[in-house]
Amino acid sequence: MTAAAERARAPVVVWLHEVDSTQSHAFLLGAENAPDGTAVVADVQTAGRGRRGRAWRAEPGTSLLVSILVRPRLPVAKLPLLSLTTAVALAETLAESGVPARIKWPNDVLARGRKIAGILLESRTGTATLVAVGVGVNLLQRGFDGDLEARATSAYLETGRALDRGALLQAFLARFARWRARLEKVGFEPVRERWLALNDTIGDAVSIDGLTGLARDLDGAGALLVDDGATVHRVVAGALDDAARR
Ligand code: BTN
Repeated sequence: MTAAAERARAPVVVWLHEVDSTQSHAFLLGAENAPDGTAVVADVQTAGRGRRGRAWRAEPGTSLLVSILVRPRLPVAKLPLLSLTTAVALAETLAESGVPARIKWPNDVLARGRKIAGILLESRTGTATLVAVGVGVNLLQRGFDGDLEARATSAYLETGRALDRGALLQAFLARFARWRARLEKVGFEPVRERWLALNDTIGDAVSIDGLTGLARDLDGAGALLVDDGATVHRVVAGALDDAARR
């Protein structure tokens, strides 16, 4: 591909110093017809959000905080597959930078058992469905306070190096675009195979929303199969948060 063609395919990146949440800003741009794949990055968020209504906090400049605006070419029922797809792209990107990244179902990215990155998918339905794929990656943190100390890590703590945010962003956006295209054009199977190769959940005892058992497999629809000794249950990766409600 020529350099000009590469540039034409490269996603638009909107880099802000401070924003409430890159998710909210991505939806704002989406409503203003920003192109599919637009990435919103911030040095700091004043109201960053995590899954299940939790806050996502990071000291200014310590993390990669990005939301990708997706105009999905998938039926609404399949949108949650985008979060497994994002986890694959992110784990690969971090592994390429020397971080021993693994995926914990459905889409946390861990290194040596500690969380290094989180993924939040939110949707808004209006005349068209918009999805914001939000990713927070701990990069430069030298340590964590309180109960996070035992549960969180950063790329610096894992590699001893300060990874370049811009370079990591570009690498992630390229991988995300490739895996997303596979999902939309070929289907979930290639993503599933890669997710299985990168995961740290299958074969482990899990406890999810009151269900305890052995994680046996990820099925072709992205559900985790959990064997509680009596029945194999299908646990569906959480529905997308509806950003319109916030
Ligand atoms: C999780 O709870 O694990 C998901 C965390 C997702 C955080 C990211 S940071 C960039 C984007 N903007 C937000 O407000 N949240 C996501």
